[in-house]
Amino acid sequence: MKFFVDTADISDIKALAASGLLDGVTTNPSLIARSGRRILEVVAEICEVVQGPVSAEVAATEYSQMLREAAVLTSIAPNVAVKLPLTPDGLRACRALSEQGVMTNVTLCFSAAQALLAAKAGATFVSPFVGRLDDIGQDGMQLIADIVQIYRNYDALQTEVLVASVRHPIHVIEAAKLGAHVATVPPAVLRALYHHPLTDKGLAAFLADWAQTGQQIIETVAV
Ligand code: G3P
Repeated sequence: MKFFVDTADISDIKALAASGLLDGVTTNPSLIARSGRRILEVVAEICEVVQGPVSAEVAATEYSQMLREAAVLTSIAPNVAVKLPLTPDGLRACRALSEQGVMTNVTLCFSAAQALLAAKAGATFVSPFVGRLDDIGQDGMQLIADIVQIYRNYDALQTEVLVASVRHPIHVIEAAKLGAHVATVPPAVLRALYHHPLTDKGLAAFLADWAQTGQQIIETVAV
């Protein structure tokens, strides 16, 4: 499973990229607003840090204007994936961009029917929002199961399922169990994936026992 980070915070992205475990980045208009920075500047900086796909979302809602904005966004760097809303204009733009070989991420997907349309439009990624479905009492992870099953039935559907609106590590594990291709995860949730209390407890015990031995793996050389 590929891990993308869902943020426009460059310091978080740099720190997570240093782990060697980061495959890409997703942003959206809300995350750009939260960063307090200009979209073109911050996306360019992210693309210098991360080689994998970096999603940057159009703000237009009309087809021709979406394509004009996509041209600006893709001029930033070759690894920009144009994020488009799951609307008739968004899917039309997705089809046009995919025919030009541009990476696309169709966002705001809340149903299997929408995901099927995104795949038929040639999307590189489709972003079902699991957390927002859970928030309204629906089963976000069931949507992932449905989309994965549908896409597996048809070799021609090459769209990757990018699980978005991830709120906690269990979302990531459940998505991986279902075979979703990508999870885009907020920085705090990515960091939480490392932690287990028995790891901390076990390490403390090993270090205490090691200190009792008085040994050092790298012996200090007397000068
Ligand atoms: O970037 C899309 C998605 O991950 C947003 O998540 O937490 O705003 O529902 P959230």
